[in-house]
This record gives sequence, structure tokens and C-alpha cells, in this order.
Amino acid sequence: NVPVITLDGPSGVGKGTLTRKLAAALGWHFLDSGAIYRLLALAAERQGISPEDETALLKLAAELDIRFEECPRGDVEIFLNGEPVTQAIRADAIGAFASRIAVLAPVRDALLERQRQFRQAPGLVADGRDMGTVVFPEATLKIFLTATAEERAKRRANQLRAQNVSVNLEQIQRDIEARDLRDSSRTVAPLKPAADAIIVDTTGQGIDESFARLWPMVEA
Ligand code: C5P
Repeated sequence: NVPVITLDGPSGVGKGTLTRKLAAALGWHFLDSGAIYRLLALAAERQGISPEDETALLKLAAELDIRFEECPRGDVEIFLNGEPVTQAIRADAIGAFASRIAVLAPVRDALLERQRQFRQAPGLVADGRDMGTVVFPEATLKIFLTATAEERAKRRANQLRAQNVSVNLEQIQRDIEARDLRDSSRTVAPLKPAADAIIVDTTGQGIDESFARLWPMVEA
């Protein structure tokens, strides 16, 4: 019975970075479930499929040829039909597209098994919106990360600035709030903590401080 730790929470809360750090420290695998929604979004966008076209999306989800290659330094290279798309799926437009198709229950069901396949020995750290509630309800430890939208927008802006992208902080915060609203108000697998999740507010904390708070929970 392979152990699973789940990290759920809204966009830009640091789940991805913390998940990778925890997985590296434990020597476990990790799952970036948002990347799977983003891969489907990118494939759909490239084929001109509308985010409302459930039938076409389901067909695409069934055929989706994706691969995650774990690199030595804890990085991961992501492939769609053999093509590296690690950067391409990070575009904010693809994130928005992903959150629009993520409201469709049949699409979520079609991606369920692909996510569960990441559960491999010696263990898995999984990040997303519904890891603790839907995908791995039997997880050993469930963490739900929060931070104010303002703080998350600042973090995203800093990331973009580091990539030399010019930023509009107010616009970024509006986009984050719109995505939060869509993710938490959808009827299927809405963004919310599992009943048995530990809620950790990371507002005002850097990654290292957040990691230092999570590590004792993991070791316990
Ligand atoms: O986490 P990330 O920003 O990469 O996720 C992109 C979108 O995919 C989210 O806004 C959300 O709508 C959707 N998603 C989801 N369930 C997950 C992971 C992501 O609905 N487990």
C-alpha cells in the first residue's frame, strides 16, 4: 500500500514548489495534477476545440499522449505527443483554458486514472485542487495551503519578472481571483479542503519557512 501525501490549494499558493521539495526530501515521486489539465487544454487549443465542447474534449482526453520525465535535479520535462511543452503549458491563457475544462465532470473522470497511476513505490506527493477530496481520499496526510490573493498575485508577478516578462499586478490579481472563483464555485470537485486536511496559511512566508512548517507533519 503505497503512501500518498496530498497538497491542495488555490493558484499561486506555492503547492508545486513545496510538493517537489517534499518529494525530493522523502525520495518519493510527485504528481503535478494541474499539468495534466493544462496538457489537455494545450492539446485542445491547438486543435481549435472549444472549452465547452465536451464530446471533443473527452475524445482528446482518451487519446492524450503525455509523458513526464523526472530529471536529476528534481525538475521534470513534460511531453505532449513527444514534443517538450514544459514552458508552453505554463502560459496564463492555458491555465485559464484548463480551469474552464476542469468544470466538466466527464472530463475530470476521464483524467482520474491517469492521475492515480502516479502512485508508485516508495510513495507519492500529489498537488492540485482535489487530491485529498477525490483522487486520493485515502491519503496518509492531507495539507491544504492558503494565502491571500494579493500575496499570490505578488508571487506570480515576481516569477514573471524573473523571466523578464512585464507585469500588471492588478491584472494578475484579477485573473487569480477569477480562477479561484471558478475553481471553488464549480459543482464537481470544487476547491475546498478535505474534512481531514490540515490547513496551512502561507501568507507572508517564503518557501523555506513554509517547508519548515510542513516537514514535521510529514515526519510525524
Ligand atoms: O495548478 P494549475 O494552475 O496548474 O491548474 C490549472 C487549472 O486546472 C486549475 O485552475 C484548475 O481549474 C484545474 N485543476 C483542477 N484540479 C486539479 C488540478 C488542476 O481542477 N487537481
